[in-house]
Amino acid sequence: MRLNGKTCLVTGAAGGIGSALTKLFLSQGAQVIATDLDLAALETKFADAKTDTLHLRALDITDPTAIAALNDSLEAENLPINVLVNNAAAIRIGALLDASPEDLDLVYRVNMRGTMMMMQGFMPGMIARGGGTILNMASLAGVHAMYERFAYGASKAAIVMMTRSVAVDYVAKGIRANCICAARVETPFIRSYLTEYYPDEVEERFEALSKYQPTGRMITADEVAQMAVYLCAEESAMVNGQAFTIDGGVTAGDRAPAT
Ligand SMILES: NC(=O)c1ccc[n+]([C@@H]2O[C@H](COP(=O)([O-])OP(=O)(O)OC[C@H]3O[C@@H](n4cnc5c(N)ncnc54)[C@H](O)[C@@H]3O)[C@@H](O)[C@H]2O)c1
Repeated sequence: MRLNGKTCLVTGAAGGIGSALTKLFLSQGAQVIATDLDLAALETKFADAKTDTLHLRALDITDPTAIAALNDSLEAENLPINVLVNNAAAIRIGALLDASPEDLDLVYRVNMRGTMMMMQGFMPGMIARGGGTILNMASLAGVHAMYERFAYGASKAAIVMMTRSVAVDYVAKGIRANCICAARVETPFIRSYLTEYYPDEVEERFEALSKYQPTGRMITADEVAQMAVYLCAEESAMVNGQAFTIDGGVTAGDRAPAT
């Protein structure tokens, strides 16, 4: 199995991508510490997936005290991690003139600061044990300007550069870091923001988001999880500091043949 010997911590594991990723990592032989702000949601999500290689923990990635306590308790339980998947995030929709300071504060606090604190919390232990792998869930919005993603896109662009920065600074200590930049992935994230921002247009907007990918549909959470397995397994040992796009061809070039 591709993740034998890996102990992986996943944030936002109650969500669409985080739960798909957790299940696929377990099937590939990893021990998984699945964490989320919402422990009850985690317990519901994994009620049928109980195995002694799955460990559910509450964790708010914006809370440095909780991060330190989880690190200490995992070490005490003999579950030191060697793979960290920073997947939890907050989203705000809107262009520059729609964005409030609070929108920027939220994506900064959860997406940027949270990701930074997770890496600061868990990387020293990885380095002390000889190295490890970091995978950050960025977004296509972090490398390609998507409509009405001003604050969110800025936070994801920061995650891309934090990833590259860590890759450069810590490669000699055995750390490699990569990120995934997905277009629209069919998860509760999509319907929840459509319901919040466009309550009267959820279905038409959902359809338009599906067609945004030239392949005509959204990406599945499992398809993102497959990419994540590769980036966390030994087979990608020479891949470091990269942003992997999964977008059905959005950024490849033209959308339709010229007549
Ligand atoms: N769904 C998409 O179209 C899409 C596209 C590109 C990138 N992404 C990224 O993929 C990741 C997962 O997205 P998803 O679609 O599965 O979202 P989701 O909303 O289904 O799941 C996100 C999870 O993060 C948790 N969370 C939020 N704030 C947290 C915090 N402070 N501490 C700990 N957990 C917290 C939530 O409780 C939730 O379970 C995110 O980083 C998102 O930006 C999603």
